[in-house]
Amino acid sequence: MTPGAAAAQGQPGDDAHAVTAQALDEVVAATDLRHLDEVRARYLGRGDGLLTVLKRRVGGMTDPAARAQLGKTLNELSTRVEEALAERQAALSAAVESQRRQSEVVDLTRPAPPLRRGYLHPTTRCARDIRRIFAHLGYTAVGGPEVEYDRYNFTLVNMPPGHPSRDTQATFYIDDVRLLRTHTSPVQIRSMVALGVPLKVIVPGKAYRRDYDATHFPMFHQVEGLCVDRDITVADLKGTLEFFARSMFGPERAIRLRPHHFRFTEPSLEVDVSCMVCGGDGCRTCKGSGWIEILGSGMVHPDVLRNGGVDPDRFTGFAFGMGIERIAQLAYGIEDGRLLYENDLRFIRQM
Ligand code: DAH
Repeated sequence: MTPGAAAAQGQPGDDAHAVTAQALDEVVAATDLRHLDEVRARYLGRGDGLLTVLKRRVGGMTDPAARAQLGKTLNELSTRVEEALAERQAALSAAVESQRRQSEVVDLTRPAPPLRRGYLHPTTRCARDIRRIFAHLGYTAVGGPEVEYDRYNFTLVNMPPGHPSRDTQATFYIDDVRLLRTHTSPVQIRSMVALGVPLKVIVPGKAYRRDYDATHFPMFHQVEGLCVDRDITVADLKGTLEFFARSMFGPERAIRLRPHHFRFTEPSLEVDVSCMVCGGDGCRTCKGSGWIEILGSGMVHPDVLRNGGVDPDRFTGFAFGMGIERIAQLAYGIEDGRLLYENDLRFIRQM
């Protein structure tokens, strides 16, 4: 029924019925929440809403019975419009919500943005490789203090006070009795004392010397190895280091032992590995010799065994020590060793 038709019937409240019918049509026709708010304001607005205005007019009617009757009708019609508004509002809100959900849908097939991975520093990686290789041979990794007693760092590994051999290891002293350890060898003594024999340990760790040039850094890394048992010979040393060299540098590698001198071993040996670049023919890396020096080693000196509480008449052992940076350079083909200290992420990512 249109408002005009309702008015034409001329009955009380027909205006109200017509206005209500129009309101209900507009409510249904509203296509969004803002539009619906406009409809609400047009019919129920406090000041000039059409139904509000009608209610005000009813208040001014003089016939109490007619006034009550029409007032009641108007209230009912308003309630119907309010209910229609609420229902439509719920429907429109639900539509908005479902649209939002659809637009926020998670596409599980979409490729993920690339994540930047962290990498192990080559020095760390190399230390872990060395540990793993020696773990296969039954070695346990142990540690020791970096601030060490002069006694452990030098005296107990057969470098007594005043001995010129101490000068080969430019030392950072902390006071008269303590220093930054210049090598991992003092952990030989600590291990024998703490763990007893038989014993198979490796000691990856930091060492410090007052050296600073293109190839020397005041802090560097070493791995010490110590094996003490009954009847250990140079043959055991050689087999062990051969296994290490092949695991680290490839199955083709050979090693050779050269006589050398260290205070804490007798005999002392330097160990070369056949060049991993040229295979032994001679190249720039091996300076044409086909061999590259990788570590120092030897049979543990009886005095050192004694200083570790071990009876050299019953036990023998071998020891070795290597620089991790050097091994990393050779194993991973890093030509400039300074790269290992510069913390340049581009270099580390490239590894
Ligand atoms: N401590 C020696 C150094 O720092 C390396 C070394 C040589 C360790 C021979 C050993 C060894 O255990 O037997 O230069």
